[in-house]
Amino acid sequence: MHIDFLTLFPEMFGYLDMSILKRAQAAGVVSFGVHDMRDQATNRHRTVDDRPFGGGVGMVLKPDIVKKALDELALPPNARVLVTTPQGRVFDQPFAKELAHAEHLVFLCGHYEAFDERVHDHLVTDEVSIGDYVLTGGELPALVMTDAIVRLRPGAVGKEASAHEDSFYHGLLDYPHYTRPAEFEGWDVPGVLMGGNHADVETWRRQEALKRTYLRRPDLLAIADLTNQDRAYLAALQRELAQKGRS
Ligand code: 6GU
Repeated sequence: MHIDFLTLFPEMFGYLDMSILKRAQAAGVVSFGVHDMRDQATNRHRTVDDRPFGGGVGMVLKPDIVKKALDELALPPNARVLVTTPQGRVFDQPFAKELAHAEHLVFLCGHYEAFDERVHDHLVTDEVSIGDYVLTGGELPALVMTDAIVRLRPGAVGKEASAHEDSFYHGLLDYPHYTRPAEFEGWDVPGVLMGGNHADVETWRRQEALKRTYLRRPDLLAIADLTNQDRAYLAALQRELAQKGRS
């Protein structure tokens, strides 16, 4: 998989050479290209934006600059070109999975200012947001999405970590984790984890994940893959909580 970034702040992409993304590059799972759109400017001020038609504050990134930057990449016809914008489709794990199947991705990152609308209309395939808040630029969102996408490619993440992160895959929040010391400041580790019964541990973890998801993210529970046993546990939990509410 190859991922290109078009940006006015190439220095922000140091994260690509750390941790999992660094490992994934070394293992040949992914390669990255970071490109400064200012290299496409033709005047000596290296201008990439201009004043908005119709007036108003702010500047607009020029469509000719973006087109030239994209042309230089000589993209294959199936490349996905994603522009980061709060107006886009909200990125989530299913979207990450979909994009992890692509062989070539491009993130077009704006900063402070808008892209000329013709960029959205004619030069990109997807508009994506990472959530309902305002950020200064698309660089951090592009890195967030890249992390989530690349770690899904086979060989990017070691066995241990991938087994662990499976939890969000199956649609539930993670269960609680504990390590030594068993006793610390009077805060105890749940007894079942100390007992050595593997089946009991698995049941407890599943139930804790269900309980957390029920209490914190019931929206996720509605779309999760639940067994009859899971449903029975949740029904009992609901009765227990209702009981507590009454007493
Ligand atoms: Cl993808 N880009 C920008 N600039 N701001 C955002 C965003 C993206 N997602 C949330 N806020």
